[in-house]
Amino acid sequence: MTITKRKFDVVIVGAGGAGMRAALQLSEAGLKVAVLSKVFPTRSHTVSAQGGIAASLGNVTEDNWHWHMYDTVKGSDYLGDQDAIEFMCRQANEVVYELEHFGMPFDRLENGKIYQRPFGGQSQNFGGEQATRSCAAADRTGHAMLHTLYQRNISANTQFFVEWMGLDLIRDDQGDVLGVTALEMETGKVMLLQARATLFATGGGGRIFQASTNAFINTGDGLGMAARAGIPLQDMEFWQFHPTGVHSAGVLISEAVRGEGGYLTNKNGERFMERYAPNAKDLASRDVVSRAMTIEINEGRGCGKAADHLLLKLDHLGADVIKSRLPGIRELAIKFAHVDPINGPIPVVPTAHYMMGGIPTNRHSQVVTPYKTGPEEVVAGFYAVGECACVSVHGANRLGTNSLLDIVVFGRAAGMQVIKDLKKAPHHKALPTDAADKTLARLSRLNNQKDGESVAQVRDTMKRTMQTYCGVFRMADILKQGVAKINEVAERVANTEIEDKSQVFNTARIEALELDNLIEVALATMVSAEARVESRGAHARDDFSERDDENWLKHTLYFRDGKRLDYKPVRLKPLTVASFPPKPRTY
Ligand code: FUM
Repeated sequence: MTITKRKFDVVIVGAGGAGMRAALQLSEAGLKVAVLSKVFPTRSHTVSAQGGIAASLGNVTEDNWHWHMYDTVKGSDYLGDQDAIEFMCRQANEVVYELEHFGMPFDRLENGKIYQRPFGGQSQNFGGEQATRSCAAADRTGHAMLHTLYQRNISANTQFFVEWMGLDLIRDDQGDVLGVTALEMETGKVMLLQARATLFATGGGGRIFQASTNAFINTGDGLGMAARAGIPLQDMEFWQFHPTGVHSAGVLISEAVRGEGGYLTNKNGERFMERYAPNAKDLASRDVVSRAMTIEINEGRGCGKAADHLLLKLDHLGADVIKSRLPGIRELAIKFAHVDPINGPIPVVPTAHYMMGGIPTNRHSQVVTPYKTGPEEVVAGFYAVGECACVSVHGANRLGTNSLLDIVVFGRAAGMQVIKDLKKAPHHKALPTDAADKTLARLSRLNNQKDGESVAQVRDTMKRTMQTYCGVFRMADILKQGVAKINEVAERVANTEIEDKSQVFNTARIEALELDNLIEVALATMVSAEARVESRGAHARDDFSERDDENWLKHTLYFRDGKRLDYKPVRLKPLTVASFPPKPRTY
């Protein structure tokens, strides 16, 4: 197979908000930037972020970055690194105003300022009254952001490779990163993109679960590539289950519904969150609400014939509020739940939504890992941002609307850091002669495999395994079985066969390549979850129901080779303010 080679200053894999914010910084600095995306950039998964972007603008209620920082540390169940959290919360207002000046069409208050709505876990004065911190463009905030960033990138001359999939990371014998191999999805053509800096912004891997709010493209590609190249994956046991996915469809119904005054009820019409979170009620942190919903269902208070979901009531908000503030939600509810929320409640269940773990990075978005000489060092030439990275600002549980903030703060930080680093590394390093060998071997296996299993069948087993053995509540024997089962699935992945080997309809090949990435995410998740014998944030164990700061206030590192685990300390020291020490977490 012939491989075309191209050289860029920077190669970015992923064109969601994180990748495009970084690309903008870099292209505007005059660097030659390639952005690879499996879909047209404005269809990246950021497009489905609904409720808003968190920033302490204080347009509706008094607010400041320090309160935002406190809420984020508490929301993370104290696993978040406090230096990174301070960095993010302090920059929030600036990046939001920057987006406004880029032309992002935020909703407005009567006085013309950016509209803000309350979201879960937001408080004033370090745990006091509810704060109103999420800046919104109706319930299509991610859509507005993505279009704004795409337009800016076009005028900055960023070069997009649309419908190209990143395949493997290229490292030399020192371990430095020199670029990626990639596949043109339409033709099957393989290209080697050599770069002085490689940035992953590939999003999450939520498609490892059967019920997921994630788009089909969210197959953990960056994590798979990193793991295969020897980079560990951090804190993979922490997955957020969003409380309100449409029952049976998985589609996201934004927390903005509860922010605007909607609430959950059980089969008795009871507003049950009052029992679980007497102060914050339906706006408690997501892990708390999802657990409460699961208990309601498990104890027989679920709704419907199978008593397997709960109801999200918002008709009392009135048609005007629903049509102006939640138009997308109304559309989704009508389409996927066959309910017009102006007239009736939406059936909902907790649904896999967000991966708190990822490729370990520092607050400059440089990938950090045990490397040449020490336990934690920057990997030369390699950066990661957004959901595929673990910086870690979300720790064990992310607060709603902190994800759009994360992608623009760290996208911009990545851009700035790359510009600085490239001044010191003005030339491309020489490529090793075997740079594309791993990729060619994977493609050759797929082309030549005979009598293998179907990709769809194996993928389905993986999803059911993750859903059954690694869901909202976890326990030792179930996780142990889960590890055995997911290892079996991994062996089956290695023997999958693509039925249509022609290059005409390449989707079969793409799905097989994606499964290689999904299984790495699934393995890392199950193995890390079995090992953590405590409950923290989204990792809730029935058998170890308490948080254990003495033994487990630490980050997990999962190494693909040998499926080995290691741990590293949480950075409890912020940059300029006093640390928020762990304390019991109530809402
Ligand atoms: O509920 C939502 O609108 C989702 C927001 C988020 O995940 O940050």
